Amino acid sequence: MNHWWEIPKHQTSRNNQLWIANQKATRLAKQFQTPLFVYNANRIRENYRRLCEAFDATGAPYSIHYAMKANPHPAILALLRKLGARIDAVSPNEVRLAKQTGFSPEKIFFTGTSVSNDDLTELIASGVLINIDSFSQMRRLTEKKFDGNASIRWNPGTGAGIHDHTITGGKFIKFGIPEKFILKAFQTARTNGLCVVGLHQHIGSGWLGNDVQKFLKTVEKTISVGKKAEKILSKPLEFIDFGGGPGIRYQEKQTDFPIEKYAQGIANAMKKNSLNCPVVIEPGRFIVGDAGILLTEVNTVETKNIPVIGVNAGFNALIRPAFYGAYHEIVNANRLHTPVKVASMVAGNLCESGDVFNTDKYSLRKLPKTREGDILAILNAGAYGRAMASNYNLRERPAEILIDEKKTRVITRKETFRQLIQNQKP
Ligand code: LLP
Repeated sequence: MNHWWEIPKHQTSRNNQLWIANQKATRLAKQFQTPLFVYNANRIRENYRRLCEAFDATGAPYSIHYAMKANPHPAILALLRKLGARIDAVSPNEVRLAKQTGFSPEKIFFTGTSVSNDDLTELIASGVLINIDSFSQMRRLTEKKFDGNASIRWNPGTGAGIHDHTITGGKFIKFGIPEKFILKAFQTARTNGLCVVGLHQHIGSGWLGNDVQKFLKTVEKTISVGKKAEKILSKPLEFIDFGGGPGIRYQEKQTDFPIEKYAQGIANAMKKNSLNCPVVIEPGRFIVGDAGILLTEVNTVETKNIPVIGVNAGFNALIRPAFYGAYHEIVNANRLHTPVKVASMVAGNLCESGDVFNTDKYSLRKLPKTREGDILAILNAGAYGRAMASNYNLRERPAEILIDEKKTRVITRKETFRQLIQNQKP
């Protein structure tokens, strides 16, 4: 029996059981304890390669900067570095970790917002490219005599995203230089003697096929600004960066992201406008999102006013449903095809009524009749999962394991009580 979420060699069903990279999910849960994030290295590689193939087919020069905020685990960074990825970092610590993992500074772009003077000092010393987000940042970089490479982030006026919080283009948006000031920003940068080599946009995160057209309109706009910027700077741009954002299929009703249409659309727009510099993209979710799942064990099954399945993870482990009303497919790893379905609330173990893994507390999910001790798998948890985890309710953040072919290893141990309180003074 096939389920819409099956991905050959990665996430499959066999004998009523969920298998991840050829390992039985329930066995992993038993061996490594739950809650547990499980990643499949080969799926990460495959996603990265799918992007490369789509851009290779256009013949245009490009580079891929992995948005490490989606999942900054050093083992994942190392894996992507070996494939030739570069890095999009958003904090000095992300830059530090990327460098520690072997990325050289020229392969790292820093795109931060509300950046402090101390952060700027550290970034300048680190040798990475700084993507300027505001006139304030530009002024302070000038005062600090920054002579490294910079680019400018602009807000092209429209955005797209999986949720209002993840849209980053438009009026009520804190990021980038707005349209009315963008040419002035390039003029100021030139007057101030900053070495601006690129232009950047990121309209939002987690959009799908329907939004590609909207995205491509912003690409056209950005290219037109890029051409004006070249005139202002009296030199060609070294790159134009269209940000991240390609989504993944979280729900059956969605379709896979059309990467060919996306890559070809970008390449066509560049060609049509005779802009020849390399294109940069900064995907995060597309690379790691469907490569990770969260395994959690069922603690309680009980019909209260509604049927409630209580599990041993909460929004401290995966906040996306509670924070964005995000849909994550939930499957019973040891009863995949059990025909009897019960519309249930899959509830976390935190003391908040919004701590559910359904999209909200009113949207019950039809699941096979579940028993205590069953293992539920929350799919598509590889991006913005462990990365956004917290210690709310003094819960430890879950462990992480990486399966790479025949080798499975713990890449993050579960936190301990001691670690949670070690910086606190009574
Ligand atoms: N570049 C910039 C400048 C960004 O701000 C982001 C994401 C990316 C690239 C990568 O976007 P991606 O390709 O992963 O969509 N926590 C939210 C997503 C927030 C995204 C923040 N910025 C979520 O769980 O949906």
